[in-house]
Amino acid sequence: MTRTRSDGTATATVPAARPADPPAGQPPAVPSPAVPSPAVPSPAVAPTTADPQSAAAPPAAQAPALTVRGVRIRDEVNDREIVHGVSFELRPGRAVGIVGESGSGKTLTCRAILGILPAHFAVSAGSIEIAGRDIAGLTTPQWTDLRGSTISAVFQDPASYLNPSLKVGVQIAEVIQVKSGLRRRAARRRALELLTAVHLRDPELVYDQYTFELSGGMLQRVLIATAIAADPQVLIADEATTALDVTVQAEILDLLADLRERNGLALVVVSHDLAVVAQVCDEVLVMREGEVVEHGPTADVLYHPRHEYTRLLIAEHEQYGLDRYLADSDSTTDPDPDPDPEADPHAGIGPVAGEQRKELDDVR
Ligand SMILES: Nc1ncnc2c1ncn2[C@@H]1O[C@H](COP(=O)(O)OP(=O)(O)OP(=O)(O)O)[C@@H](O)[C@H]1O
Ligand SMILES: [Mg+2]
Repeated sequence: MTRTRSDGTATATVPAARPADPPAGQPPAVPSPAVPSPAVPSPAVAPTTADPQSAAAPPAAQAPALTVRGVRIRDEVNDREIVHGVSFELRPGRAVGIVGESGSGKTLTCRAILGILPAHFAVSAGSIEIAGRDIAGLTTPQWTDLRGSTISAVFQDPASYLNPSLKVGVQIAEVIQVKSGLRRRAARRRALELLTAVHLRDPELVYDQYTFELSGGMLQRVLIATAIAADPQVLIADEATTALDVTVQAEILDLLADLRERNGLALVVVSHDLAVVAQVCDEVLVMREGEVVEHGPTADVLYHPRHEYTRLLIAEHEQYGLDRYLADSDSTTDPDPDPDPEADPHAGIGPVAGEQRKELDDVR
């Protein structure tokens, strides 16, 4: 349900139709399969060539997929501002990360973008444009049409967004039927393509499985398949890898990077973990207590953090990261004769890299 405020900004409560109720405090699943939308071209497996914003054009020349300008969010019941002005621009095939401590307003910012702010919360200033369309004043059917087809999202705890009594493939096919207007058999074929695109080993088998038969990593892949089923331009991943173990987390981040590269998907990656956003994002916003305290290209933020809080986040990784431990162990046996003062800032903050990841994938 979308409400339009007197200042023209839109605020929404949780949409009605979804496979299963998420846990309290978590946002609803997006896309909602409530209202059919016109047929959309095939996503995920190959880039959409008919799309004027296809991967052919250099990203800088393309119109933004998402523009957030000075967005402020108020808790109207307690009469306090929670988010004090967030701005960023996201072009097709680019990725922006939002990092920050718990309660800093990351999820509320995402929910404002998706038009699913909790009751009593409202965008009190600023504007949001999705694919050039100002979301203020969108009607419920317009929102339903936009979600899934243009903007989509995945959250933590994928199981809570899937119906435990339905086969997962059937749930993806249902979204495809509703959003893309395909008939049952074609929707099944498309769902199998999507399960392949998210790198699930045996799509036919997974299609016929129930949520309790799948691991957390597999469920998150299924949810990502559902989220990209209608070929959205923007995908918001809010703590999408937080509940996963470190190797599966790395695989899901690889998958997001892959979708971004192959499909030109624009990503908003939200995490309390700087390592996660550093791995995937071109640009990082650091939030603290509703404020964006730092915003810049990922390398700049990591190499030259300006805010004390960003320095603290980096220092925590340096202090507690496993890579640091391993680097220290190495240095005791094989000391670096010529240490580089401008050493890789990603060191110590990447989960599992390259060959190691492939090896783990082979045994999974
Ligand atoms: N549904 C809600 N009801 C009441 N207050 C809320 C609700 N959602 C968020 N808040 C308030 O807004 C603040 C920001 O919440 P938000 O969920 O955006 O934080 P976050 O940065 O995503 O944190 P986390 O890293 O824990 O997910 C919270 O501290 C809380 O006070
Ligand atoms: Mg959150």
